[in-house]
Amino acid sequence: MTRKIKILIIFGGQSGEHEVSVVSADSVLKALDSKKYAIETIGITKEGLWYWGVKPEEWKQTNGIVLPNYKQVALVLNPQEPRFISLDGSALPFKGKCDIIFPVMHGPKGEDGTIQGLFDMAGLPYVGSGVLGSSLGMDKDRMKAVFRDAGLPIVPHLTFLRSELAQNMQNIVETIANGIGYPCFIKPANLGSSVGISKADNNKQLRAALEYAAKFDHKILVEKGVKAREIELSVLGNDVPKVSIPGEIVPSKEFYDYEAKYIDAGSKLIIPADLKTSVVEKLQDYAKKAFKAVEAKGLGRMDFFVTKDESIFINEINTLPGFTQISMYPKLWEASGLSYPDLLDRLIDLGLERFEDDSNRRLS
Ligand SMILES: Nc1ncnc2c1ncn2[C@@H]1O[C@H](COP(=O)(O)OP(=O)(O)O)[C@@H](O)[C@H]1O
Ligand SMILES: [Mg+2]
Repeated sequence: MTRKIKILIIFGGQSGEHEVSVVSADSVLKALDSKKYAIETIGITKEGLWYWGVKPEEWKQTNGIVLPNYKQVALVLNPQEPRFISLDGSALPFKGKCDIIFPVMHGPKGEDGTIQGLFDMAGLPYVGSGVLGSSLGMDKDRMKAVFRDAGLPIVPHLTFLRSELAQNMQNIVETIANGIGYPCFIKPANLGSSVGISKADNNKQLRAALEYAAKFDHKILVEKGVKAREIELSVLGNDVPKVSIPGEIVPSKEFYDYEAKYIDAGSKLIIPADLKTSVVEKLQDYAKKAFKAVEAKGLGRMDFFVTKDESIFINEINTLPGFTQISMYPKLWEASGLSYPDLLDRLIDLGLERFEDDSNRRLS
């Protein structure tokens, strides 16, 4: 019998999407085939401390309480022998080592390239995009610039810095009202799960929305509001990615805000989305191009707007999309013939392949 692959699932983190990560990690942990994998877990608290041995299910119930059996760990930066050590000097399972890390994390410091850079420095393979793909996938402003550069259709938008807002609020409100117009969407550039996002229909709402978004990030995007269906596709692969069939999100509220995503179960996923073949083909082509444009690896959920007259706009890529059994990303693969456990196997293989590929380079 072949040796089991040692997987370390890392979840939680210092992000507004901490709770979502815990739920995703719980699903991943329970679906990984224990005949193929030996699995350990690290939970990162909202304060940013790393604890080996936290089960996602426990944090789902306790809201992130640190129990005495958890061991606070540190990553040893030795690419010849990457490993974690326990701060109290006690032994860790796997001697603190693993074959691959599965960061089941969403948002800043999980999905934005920072943790990916840390794993690169330590010489550890991991699932998903590297530093560049992750950070481009997180920053909506830079992501859209790269999409535009690749010839992909995006919704008109403007970007402002928090410091500019503080000095020039009145001018900026006028620029937006005259340029983008209403309704518009105001978003922190580097976040997800709709945190900090509002819709504005007039100057007063716009001003409040800008101030609100600026609480979450130093960079704020203002986008023209489009009346459109929300269509998502899943991409899987490294250099030659595959694209799934499209799915549609029907939000339970006026737009797909945090509550509609996670609290109110009324939002619906329709798989496959009811679209003409020609539109589906165009979406699949755009999805693949967008994935490559930001240099994403492993996985990406590509989110689009499709208007009544069949205009398509790409809204964003999520390089670590929601990953529960009922999340769009795995559901789309399931409908395309790839089960949730098989999808996990594939993602792990892709992570190992990418590490292998990246290791093949001359240092001098
Ligand atoms: N330009 C827009 N026009 C219409 N609705 C939008 C627009 N931008 C965002 N939305 C709505 O807000 C939701 C969240 O915005 P999104 O850019 O996807 O941020 P997040 O990364 O937080 O998911 C979308 O799913 C959609 O319902
Ligand atoms: Mg979104």
